[in-house]
Parts: sequence; C-alpha cells; structure tokens
Amino acid sequence: MKAWTWERYGPPDVLTLRDVDEPGIARDEVLVRVRAASVNPYDWRHLRADPHLVRLSIGLRRPKAGLVLGADLAGVVERVGEEVTGLRPGDEVFGEVPLGAFAEAVAVSPRTLAVKPAGLSFERAAAVSMAAHTALQGLRDEGRIAPGQRVLINGASGGIGTFAVQLAKVLGAEVTGVCSTRNLELVRSLGADDVVDYTGEDFTERDERYDLLMDIVGDRSLAGLRRVLTPRGTLVIVGGIASTSRLLGPAAQMLRGALASRFVGHRIASVAWKPNAGDLRFLAELMEEGRITPVIDRTYPFTELPEALRHLERRHARGKIAITF
Ligand SMILES: NC(=O)c1ccc[n+]([C@@H]2O[C@H](COP(=O)([O-])OP(=O)(O)OC[C@H]3O[C@@H](n4cnc5c(N)ncnc54)[C@H](OP(=O)(O)O)[C@@H]3O)[C@@H](O)[C@H]2O)c1
Repeated sequence: MKAWTWERYGPPDVLTLRDVDEPGIARDEVLVRVRAASVNPYDWRHLRADPHLVRLSIGLRRPKAGLVLGADLAGVVERVGEEVTGLRPGDEVFGEVPLGAFAEAVAVSPRTLAVKPAGLSFERAAAVSMAAHTALQGLRDEGRIAPGQRVLINGASGGIGTFAVQLAKVLGAEVTGVCSTRNLELVRSLGADDVVDYTGEDFTERDERYDLLMDIVGDRSLAGLRRVLTPRGTLVIVGGIASTSRLLGPAAQMLRGALASRFVGHRIASVAWKPNAGDLRFLAELMEEGRITPVIDRTYPFTELPEALRHLERRHARGKIAITF
C-alpha cells in the first residue's frame, strides 16, 4: 500500500510517498481502508519536531523507522480482530489514530472510532475527530460550560474554532468569536452572536466580560485574557496557533496557566484532547441532526499531502483541510 513516511525532521518536502507493507491488526483492532483524512497542526508538529518535546515520543535524532504521519481519518472497516465487538467489515467509520492515517490502510482501536453518519461524506467525517474532540472537551469538561453563559472563542475560524463556536451554541451559550476580517461572515454563519475582528480591535481591551474564554491562539498574556473574564470566570487554554516556543510549543502557555491558577481567583484550565468513541457518537448525532457541520476550507488528493500541510502551516485555514484517497 502507499503511505507518507519521513526519515528526518523538517518541512513538508521531507515527506515521501512509499510502498509499504499493509499493517497487521492486534486482536482488539480493526483494519480501516482509508477513504479520507484531514490535517492538523499536530501533523506538522510531528513532521518538524516542533516543539522539540515531540522527539521524546517519536525519536530523538530522527523519526523512528517506519512511522507513517497522520491522525484524523474516515474509511471502511476491512478486517476485525477476534476481540472486537460492535464493528464489522463493511462498516463506514470515522475517528483517529496516534499516527498512520496518511496511508491507504491503517490499524485502529475501536475505542477511537464511531460509525459514520450515512449522510456525511468521508471527507467531512475525516475532518471531525481531533478538532471537535478538543473543542468539546475544552468547553464541556474543562470549561464546564452552562446554558446562558457568555463565551468568547479566540481563534474562531480555524479547525478547532469552527467546531467550538457551533458546540458552544449547541450547549446553550451566547458566543463571541475572534477572527480576522475575511472570516467574520463565516464565524457569524456558524452561530456566533458577536464577532471581533482582531485586525482592528484587541478583545482584551473590551468592556465586555465573559464567563468562559477559550484561547486557541496563544497570542495574549494571561493577564490580558483574565481581564475580560467575569470575577468567577474560566480560562481554557487550548493551543498556540501563534506560539513561538521551540522547546514546548503551545504547552508553554499551558504551564504558565497552571502556575498562575494557584494564585488567582479565576479558574485556568488546559485541554489535552482524548479521542473516544462516546464523544465521537455524540458528535455524529449532532451532525445527523444538522446541529453542527464540519467546515472544509480545501480538499487535496492524497498525492498532494505536502501541499495541504504547507497550506495549514500558514496558519490561516478556514475550518479544516481534507485529504481524499
Ligand atoms: N490542547 C489540545 O488538546 C489541542 C488539540 C489539537 C490542537 N491543539 C492546538 O490548537 C491550536 C489550533 O489548532 P487548529 O486546528 O484550530 O489550527 P488552525 O486550523 O491551523 O488555525 C488556523 C486559524 O487560526 C486563525 N488565527 C491565526 N492567527 C490568529 C489570531 N491572531 N487571532 C485569531 N485567530 C487567528 C486563522 O484565522 P485568520 O485567517 O482569520 O487569521 C485560522 O482560521 C494549535 O496550536 C494546535 O497545536 C491543541
């Protein structure tokens, strides 16, 4: 089968499309024939070892031999291990793997898969897992969002942000989205009650106060973010689109947040998304009911994966970037 592998850390040019053996499956795994995937900052961070912290898990000097890049996927179950219940060959599924999705087939644990809604294309289904899990777990589990709360999403037009705006509305909040001028209409169309154009206004200087602030960008100081929180408000740190720390990446702001949370009145929490079948089923229901929908910026063929990553690395994707096989 064809798969995208990399033997040294670097830009998308270091990726090679190779013929590799199809993966075997463990007793508790299924083999998925991949029909679509999507790209996440997680992918280019692994590709470049940016931040350096990535090296601890996939190879200090170079990526361990045989690794295939890619997390988010949608496809068709081809084989199931003896211990697998609930999935059968022919089932159409979506979800994610730690690595290996940018290949024609991948072994996946059913714990991170769910049956794809029939009316949802493979392309859209592949855009869901990492971004929507992060948005949902950030709002619901870390943010403890409640109906009627005022919620601000900084980074509302990207992969996570487009899900976060829709999910915060589903969960009953009044939502403000921060994005640039060209994305104001998109963010409004996703349900945002108010939008802030960061090219003309600094939201941390606003007179408004928010019960929950989800920061996906990481371009503001903790003091600035806390300034627009209500006295008992919560800051949820998700990521660092604008992060510049080569050692820790977005984790730098999370560490600062963890430290500060001991000394300030606000709750400051960080998200570490945990893909799971229960949340995927919840997201599938919302998509079936038409209450949320994956926003696709562009779709690239499998053979043009490096180009898709270059587009994502510019950090101005509108929603998700999909890969079709
Ligand atoms: N904590 C976790 O569990 C977790 C999980 C997954 C990802 N992450 C992290 O979360 C971050 C975001 O991921 P993503 O998939 O949403 O990224 P993404 O899709 O690449 O984000 C691109 C978006 O960022 C917006 N943006 C860029 N600069 C901005 C600014 N200064 N203010 C507001 N918006 C800005 C862009 O909008 P404009 O074009 O309008 O500028 C664009 O729509 C990454 O750092 C990623 O590593 C964290």
